[in-house]
Amino acid sequence: MSRFWSSVVHDLTPYVPGEQPKLANLVKLNTNENPYGPSPRVLEALQAEVADTLRLYPDPNSDRLRKAIADRHGVTPSQIFVGNGSDEVLAHAFQALLKHELPILFPDITYSFYPVYCGLYGIAYRQLPLTESFEISIDDYLQPNGGIIFPNPNAPTARLLALPEIERLLQANTDSVVVIDEAYVDFGGESAIGLVARYPQLLVTHTLSKSHSLAGLRVGYAVGHPDLIEALTRVKDSFNSYPLDRFAQAGAVAAMHDRAYFAETCRKVVASRDKLVADLASLGFETLPSAANFIFTRHSTRDGAVLSACLRERSIIVRHFKNPARIAPFLRITIGTEQQCAALVSALREILG
Ligand SMILES: Cc1ncc(COP(=O)(O)O)c(C=O)c1O
Repeated sequence: MSRFWSSVVHDLTPYVPGEQPKLANLVKLNTNENPYGPSPRVLEALQAEVADTLRLYPDPNSDRLRKAIADRHGVTPSQIFVGNGSDEVLAHAFQALLKHELPILFPDITYSFYPVYCGLYGIAYRQLPLTESFEISIDDYLQPNGGIIFPNPNAPTARLLALPEIERLLQANTDSVVVIDEAYVDFGGESAIGLVARYPQLLVTHTLSKSHSLAGLRVGYAVGHPDLIEALTRVKDSFNSYPLDRFAQAGAVAAMHDRAYFAETCRKVVASRDKLVADLASLGFETLPSAANFIFTRHSTRDGAVLSACLRERSIIVRHFKNPARIAPFLRITIGTEQQCAALVSALREILG
């Protein structure tokens, strides 16, 4: 606290990212990173960037990357915006597209950065409760609003909303922007990007942090009508013209091109997820259906906070949320390698006695 702070800073409640412990030999299953490294082609592309050209600014428009992303999704580069992680893309979307008179709508249990952006930009919001089974009910969103945002699959529940439900929302909600945050869609969801051509109010965001194993590079993007993209670009160019450095642009282009590696990594994560869910069921855990690279699971008798603490004593880190009370029994567990999942299951077996 300081008298030099602006009133905005006084009132901020910043987002708290998952812990990045400095200890070696941890089984780190707390921040939904990919347990497999990036494509070898990405590493080659990064090495090629270690050159005299680093004295020059990167391409402010990330043209090669936007073209690679556009080609992958069958859209045009004018429909693509890239940013320093999808967090930055989302931040710009809140400021550029979701700040209006009416409150925006998002679920009560969802990505906890959304209320933080609202605080930063002074955006009113209304949180709509998930159903008993932790699902988003589109009927709840059919009301006047300044915009709508939710992840699909949702986080931290991992539950997927079927694409026809998103289309039903878009048909009914034509006067404000709908942002679908698809950070985890590559692990079992169907992307809404195919709907962008028909719905000019739809913005879909993706990240290379999860399915492309590049959380350390910080690249995310949005796909939408060129008018929405222009709004994001106007905010970006009023904030930081070079959000993606030379490494990020080159590495992300290579990641977009290596489709085979991406598909194989996702396949391995999904196979480990299915096995982990079955193993946990045999220990008395009930897991919500997951279409993500993490699961949301609770034990029939044991407390989530206690289990999380016992795992930590055994050098296994998972995520536990105290609030809201409804999700306190749950653990959010990132899908690791086969060995990491096996270590988790054997630690839980020991803890549960
Ligand atoms: C739902 C959701 N959206 C967006 C992000 C941001 O991802 P990044 O900034 O790494 O692209 C995350 C990160 O965990 C997330 O869980």
